[in-house]
Amino acid sequence: MLANRVRKNARRLRGPFEKKNIGAYRLYDWDIPELRMVVDWYEGHLVCAEYARTQTDAIPGWLESMASACAAALEVESEKIHLRKRRTRPVEGERYQRLATAGERLEVREGPLRVLVNLDDYLDTGLFNDHRETRARVRSEAAGASLLNLFCYTGTFTCAAAAGGAKESVSVDVSGRYLDWAKDNLALNGHAGPTHEFVRRDARAYLAEAAGASRRFTLCVLDPPSFSTREGEEDFDIQREHPALIAQALAVLAPGGVLWFSTNHQRFEPRLDGLPAQSVREVTDETLPPDYRRRAHRSFRIVR
Ligand SMILES: C[S@@+](CC[C@H](N)C(=O)[O-])C[C@H]1O[C@@H](n2cnc3c(N)ncnc32)[C@H](O)[C@@H]1O
Repeated sequence: MLANRVRKNARRLRGPFEKKNIGAYRLYDWDIPELRMVVDWYEGHLVCAEYARTQTDAIPGWLESMASACAAALEVESEKIHLRKRRTRPVEGERYQRLATAGERLEVREGPLRVLVNLDDYLDTGLFNDHRETRARVRSEAAGASLLNLFCYTGTFTCAAAAGGAKESVSVDVSGRYLDWAKDNLALNGHAGPTHEFVRRDARAYLAEAAGASRRFTLCVLDPPSFSTREGEEDFDIQREHPALIAQALAVLAPGGVLWFSTNHQRFEPRLDGLPAQSVREVTDETLPPDYRRRAHRSFRIVR
């Protein structure tokens, strides 16, 4: 069943994505209720992730056999299969821990962008494909912009804005490792240099400092994790924090500046009334990609 579905989806998606020079996309998104997994294609590699639950935990080799079926259906060699166990509700802290240290990076095409992914070492690969369209939108609005990319992770929104002609950017993240990865991505796309800054800081602390220093941006991307717990730092919960965080981000935007806010929180309830903004528009329908069956994120375009 899974092999048939993956083959069918691959046949439907490959042509249109190749036409747009896109080398990473989702081939199976929990299409069949009993097969709780996702399968992603990365330039000829398959990342198969199971949403762990006790029933399949009790079947040794379940994920391996599902992955082999997908690989056989798509004629992918066994060395190019990568397995993951995810949880619908991640246990505290586990999401950003290393799984292995193989460290191999693969270059992936996303239209005019190139992104380095790591398919073995972490739960996430370095590229969130559900935001492919959002990145394209940011790129199309970035000419001459001064970008603030908060929670920048591997810097893919910064790469998109730079490709769209942003004149400068600041990318903020608490993780030095991800900031290094973001720098590598920017360099890979030919945009290394002093006009693109990387700041290792809590996003809220950075916003407070930038406001104090009267720093202003014309474009901001705010795409935080749903939850984050780090030792020695205050817990982060997007449902609780988003109104204050968005207001803080708007405070460092010039009038007319655009804030792209998005969240992957599955039960997110927006509280966006009363923001100091000209317009607040949910644009989820415009940013969801055609290869995801379920609603992977919600996105909002907010004009200061
Ligand atoms: C879900 S990702 C963000 C996705 C990213 N916006 C993208 O474009 O792919 C989570 C990132 O947030 C960072 N992070 C978590 N808590 C943070 C905080 N309080 N301040 C800044 N960055 C944080 C993590 O280090 C990680 O790189």
